[in-house]
Amino acid sequence: MTAPIDLRSDTVTKPTPAMRRAMAEAEVGDDVLDGDPTVRRLEARVAELLGKPAALFFPTGTMANQAGLWLLGEPGTEVYCHDDSHIVNWEIAGTAALAGLQVRVVRGGPVMDADALRAAFRPYSVHAPRASVVCAENTHNGAGGMVTPLARLQALQETAASKGLPLHLDGARLWNAHVATGTPLAEFAACAATVMVSFSKGLGAPVGAALAGDAGPMRRAWEVRKRFGGGMRQSGILAAAALHGLEHHLPRMHEDHARARQLAAALADIPGTRVVPPDTNIVMIDLLDGLTSAQVAARARAAGVLVTEWHDTRVRCVLHLDIDDAALRRASAVLAEALVA
Ligand SMILES: Cc1ncc(COP(=O)(O)O)c(C=O)c1O
Repeated sequence: MTAPIDLRSDTVTKPTPAMRRAMAEAEVGDDVLDGDPTVRRLEARVAELLGKPAALFFPTGTMANQAGLWLLGEPGTEVYCHDDSHIVNWEIAGTAALAGLQVRVVRGGPVMDADALRAAFRPYSVHAPRASVVCAENTHNGAGGMVTPLARLQALQETAASKGLPLHLDGARLWNAHVATGTPLAEFAACAATVMVSFSKGLGAPVGAALAGDAGPMRRAWEVRKRFGGGMRQSGILAAAALHGLEHHLPRMHEDHARARQLAAALADIPGTRVVPPDTNIVMIDLLDGLTSAQVAARARAAGVLVTEWHDTRVRCVLHLDIDDAALRRASAVLAEALVA
């Protein structure tokens, strides 16, 4: 039986033979005890790419996001997050459980913008919680990999700064925003005090993320990571995969975006559906005529294609390293049938 075509996420990629070789050959040390040379190289490379003084390797994006919030936020205050953000929906209320922050969700628009943030600010009152941090997500997963262009991110930062609030950037897919717009990573990153980037999505590494920021906070981030249980030993094996992804897979990421556009075009005219035009590698399909995402996913699965039931009437398809043109053609044909009411 042939393997299914897996469009559920860009996290499903398997390390390539070349990536596995890079991992096998990595120079390693004990990163908790006295440092791992390959991890050091990765951290220096990420800091350079993001134009930040320091970066720290984390096992997951979730842990790096939570560490960023822990560093910037103050327990007993609020964090402003978009209502459909990863931090709100998929991090098991880590904001409350780990950082002691109450989420104030910002509504309006598929991603957070300056006007929506301003509208969410509370007037000062001794009875109301203060805020201590704002989070942005770029690209935005729930909005279908939507890019927040640099000018809008800068406006968001300025609006946050007008209240003395630092910005944390969930940049799990900041690579995609950079590839789609040509905006240097460092210009996006300059808008935020802390930036999380992930290696286990479009870059194709099996594990890993980084948090970047100023040197002082990143020294504290080392402690927070240890406290969260994220101190890793010979983690150079994992850092080697991330370095390999940066060198070899970042330059091909535009292919995922082109295939996302092709998939969207192939599915554009199916009655009862609406395809969100993709900015990057994620294609969201809204079901308008009674069909449910569970029905579509089951039909597609039976025909060898896996998709995500994003919610009852929204299906998510993600293009990635392991989807070539032949897989795309097959998936397009299967989905074109599965979406017919
Ligand atoms: C936008 C966003 N942020 C954070 C994460 C968390 O990354 P991880 O799965 O490495 O914890 C994800 C994972 O899908 C994501 O899509």
